[in-house]
Amino acid sequence: MRTHPDITRKPYFMFGRESGKMSLMVASEAPARPVPGPRGLPLLGNLLAFGRDPLAFFSRLRDDYGDVVTWRLGPRRSLFLSRPDHIAELLAAVEQTYEPLEIGWALKQLLGDSVLLSKGADWRRKRALVQPTVRPRHVRTYAATMVDCSTALAGTWRDGQRLDVRREMTRLTQRIVVRTLFGNDLEDDGGRLGDAMAVIQRELATELRGGVNLFLPSWARPPWRRRLLAAVAVVDAEIRRLIDARRSADPADARQDDLLGRLLAARDEDGRALTAREVRDEAVTLWAAGHETTSTTLTWTWLLLARSPDARARLTEELDRVLGGRPPAYEDYERLPWTRQVVKEALRLYPPAWVITAVAGKEAALDGAPVRAGTVMWCSQWATHRDPRWFRDPAAFRPERWDAGAPDVVPDHAWFPFGGGQRTCLGARFALVEATLVLAALAQRFHLEADPHDGVPAVGLLLLPAVPVRATVRAR
Ligand code: HEM
Repeated sequence: MRTHPDITRKPYFMFGRESGKMSLMVASEAPARPVPGPRGLPLLGNLLAFGRDPLAFFSRLRDDYGDVVTWRLGPRRSLFLSRPDHIAELLAAVEQTYEPLEIGWALKQLLGDSVLLSKGADWRRKRALVQPTVRPRHVRTYAATMVDCSTALAGTWRDGQRLDVRREMTRLTQRIVVRTLFGNDLEDDGGRLGDAMAVIQRELATELRGGVNLFLPSWARPPWRRRLLAAVAVVDAEIRRLIDARRSADPADARQDDLLGRLLAARDEDGRALTAREVRDEAVTLWAAGHETTSTTLTWTWLLLARSPDARARLTEELDRVLGGRPPAYEDYERLPWTRQVVKEALRLYPPAWVITAVAGKEAALDGAPVRAGTVMWCSQWATHRDPRWFRDPAAFRPERWDAGAPDVVPDHAWFPFGGGQRTCLGARFALVEATLVLAALAQRFHLEADPHDGVPAVGLLLLPAVPVRATVRAR
């Protein structure tokens, strides 16, 4: 771990210590002290301020009240954490002390009981079954698909062509995830599934906007929920058809080198396979978690590069030197440090997942503050990634801050776009390899000259550009 000077200088850490290890104390052992926080309205708490602009709200909590802040989302008592060591401790305690927050009815309709939404023993079983499908040696085989799809896209780009960057990157990452999930089984290249997913994405954003709908009862059927259910039915039918086709195929012909094949072949320690419903849930989750996140990362990366000629020059120099005009391959991931740093820095400034929540399942304490059972714990990648205590000149795009010998020393969990602890993103390696290889394959031949853009994100399930990023393709 690289240690930030501030952490070693100041006695920041006030958790209980046992044999040198940080530990959460039970509330009765904790030295009680009031936790600061903003006043809220009766019943609503701070819901309105949060709903208006959650990113500014979290940054204000940090700046005005400190490292551990109490606030209320409607009736629910919440604690917001912004210090990396607190965040690490929280994420490490998820599954023991804290449980993932149930994020409502809508996501459940799409993802079912997949690894992303399940808890306890059920989660452990599913994580053990799904994780091996994206282990590094399999990512190596998916990397060929990532590069093939990128090279095919590059073949369609022309100098002077105008693009909506996010739409282009989403089409690409969708094609990649569909191919890695289902091989070539989808006749229309996943078009129907893609359309249904676009509807789901839009209606999920409506459901989550402002936080107010999270309190809608599950039986309520406003128009957006009806549209969402219709689109989920399309996804279900399509994936069910694919699973049935695989299952009825001759075992000798059954493909196992894609994610669906690996999910169907997976066995838990008792030798049990996932049921068809469980395979459906995991496949949809890998798809949903696995393409919009990466396409958003790539969109922000192109925008940041367009504004940073120096970073771009270093990128093309590295790509020309290492690849010499040939398409990248999995092995090049390690050979392209600057390309990786560009992606890493884009993930710092614009983390697609901008918040992580967990609920205290039992009484606990954090930094001397009692945490009552039922408290919702929040930490935000946005707020911590832009904290000047951990990142000098935090709003600046500076991939060089990640250079091996750079003076910036970044503490663990000051950069956590993929979360942490046991529930850390299962596809982190997949995503990093994908973003790096896609960028390498495209940027070695083209530069995207972005139109002026304010870089302001819109907050939904992910942090997307609030207005489209449009660009002109420039051949190198
Ligand atoms: C830039 C791209 C990505 C970002 C920023 C991202 C971020 C995250 C975050 C923040 C979490 C929650 C971690 C936590 O609660 O501590 C997560 C979980 C997860 N991600 Fe990703 N992710 C990305 C790409 C992917 C990809 C490509 C896949 C699949 C191929 C994937 C699959 C998952 C799954 C299945 C989980 C749930 C893990 C669990 O609860 O055990 N993600 N991701």
